[in-house]
Amino acid sequence: MSHAKKGQGQLAALILAAGQGTRMESSIPKVLHHVGGRPMLYYVLRIANALKPGAIGVVVGHESDEVKKKTLEMAKSVGFNRPIQFILQKKPLGSGNAVVESLPFLRKFKTGIVMCGDTPLLTYESMYNLALTHDQLKGQATLLTARIANPKGYGRIVRGALGEVQRIVEESVASPKELGISEVNSGAYVFEIDALIAGLKQIGAKGPKKEHFLTDMMEVIRAKGGRIHAYTTTSAEEALGVNNRSQLAVAERILNKRMLERLMISGVTIRDPQSTHVDADVEIGQDTVIYPGTILRGKTKIGRMCRIGPFTHIEDTQIGNECEVRFSYVLQSRLLEKTSVGPFAHIRPDSSIGPRARVGNFTEVKASRIGFGSKVNHLSYIGDADIAEDVNIGAGTITCNYDGKAKHKTSIGAKAFVGSNVNLIAPVKVGRGAKIAAGSTVTEDVPDDALAIARARQVNKT
Ligand code: UD1
Ligand code: CA
Repeated sequence: MSHAKKGQGQLAALILAAGQGTRMESSIPKVLHHVGGRPMLYYVLRIANALKPGAIGVVVGHESDEVKKKTLEMAKSVGFNRPIQFILQKKPLGSGNAVVESLPFLRKFKTGIVMCGDTPLLTYESMYNLALTHDQLKGQATLLTARIANPKGYGRIVRGALGEVQRIVEESVASPKELGISEVNSGAYVFEIDALIAGLKQIGAKGPKKEHFLTDMMEVIRAKGGRIHAYTTTSAEEALGVNNRSQLAVAERILNKRMLERLMISGVTIRDPQSTHVDADVEIGQDTVIYPGTILRGKTKIGRMCRIGPFTHIEDTQIGNECEVRFSYVLQSRLLEKTSVGPFAHIRPDSSIGPRARVGNFTEVKASRIGFGSKVNHLSYIGDADIAEDVNIGAGTITCNYDGKAKHKTSIGAKAFVGSNVNLIAPVKVGRGAKIAAGSTVTEDVPDDALAIARARQVNKT
C-alpha cells in the first residue's frame, strides 16, 4: 500500500475501545469478551498491526487499566510490532468525543484509520481495500460499508442521486425512509487528519446521553466542500458489531466457521463442522481427522495423520503426528507421536506422554511424564510421576502423591512392571526392570530388577 511506502508518520490506526458496553449486561468491559478464544479487541488489533501504521492508538475509558493490561498482553503474545499508545477518554461521550480525545495522538499523522473494538469479524482484506480506496480517490474520508438484510441498530449510509455518500444517519434519529436503507456503516473509516481536526469541533451533542457521534463528521466534511467515499465489502457479516450476547454468539459461530473452512482447505478432515469448535490460533496438520463434538482451544497444535475425537476437549496442548485422542479432556500438555489417549482420559497440565505411549480409559494424569512405549491402560491416577520407557502400569494403580500437606514424586524406571491395583506411596522410586505384585502398597524404594510384594498373605478360614 502506498501509505506504507510514504513511510511511518503518515498513517495512524485508532481503535475505539472506551465504551462500557451497557447492552452486554456485564462487569467485563465489552471489548474483552471472548470470541474464538480471544478478546474481540484482539482481532481488531491484529488487523491494525498488519496494516503497518506508524503507530496504533487505543482509546480506553471504562475499566481502562484492565483493557490496557489485556491489550499489552495480547500484543506481546502474538508479537505485534507497531508501537501502541493508549488514549484515555475521560467520559463516555460518544465515538466523536473518543476521536477528539485522540487528536494529540492523531495530529502527528497525515491519515488515520479508525476502527471499533467490537467488530471482530472485520478482515484484513477489506481494511486494506478501504485504505487503498481512500488513497486512490483522495477524499477526506472513506467508509467501510456493507449491505445487510437486517440493518437494525446500525448507522445507515445516505447516498445522493449520483450514488455519492452524503452522510451517515444513526438509527435513533433516522426517518422511516432512512430506516429502510440496507447499506450500513461498519464503524471502520479512513480520515485525513486535517479534515478531522477542522471538523470535529462542529459536531454537536445528540440523543438522551448527549453523545458526539463520529458519524456526524460526514456531513461536516461535505459542508466544507470535502468528499466522502465508500468501499463496500461483499461479505456482509464483516460489519457485525457486537453490542449484546446474542451478537456475541453470532460472531462466535461465524469465526468458527471461517476457522474450520481454513483448516479443511488446508487438508484437515472435519467430519461434522456443526459440532466442532476450534479457536482462532489452533494449528492442525494434513490428513488429521477431527470427529464430531470436538473442542480445540487456545494455543493447541496438532500434527499430521492424527485422529481427534469424538467428544474431546483439548486446550493449549501440542500433539505430535499420528496420535489418537478419543472422548477425552486434555489440558496444557504434550503428546508425542503415535501416542494414544482415551477413551475417557483426563490429562491435566504439565504432562508429557509418548512417543508411542498409551493412556487408556478412566485414567487421570497430572504433571507427569510417561515415556516411550509405556502404557497406563485402565483406571489409574498418575500424579507428579516420571515413568520411563516400556513401563506397564496395571489397572487401578494409584500414585499416592499427596500426604495432606505436600505433593511428592514417584519415579519408575524403564521396563518396570507394576501389577494391578498397586498404591505407590510417594516419594518412592521403582527401579529399572522391577516388578510389583498386584495389590501391593509400596512405601519403600524398589531396587532394579527386584520383585516387590507388599500385601498381606491370603488366609482362607473355614
Ligand atoms: C456505531 C456507529 C454506527 C455503526 C456501528 C457499527 C456511532 C455513533 N455509530 O454504533 O454507525 O453502524 O457502530 O458497529 O459511532 N466508544 C468509545 N467511546 C464512547 C463510545 C463508544 O470508545 O464514548 C467505542 C466503543 O467502545 C465501541 C465503538 O466506539 O468499540 C462503537 O461504539 P458503540 O456504542 O458500540 O456504537 P454503536 O451503537 O454500535
Ligand atoms: Ca457497536
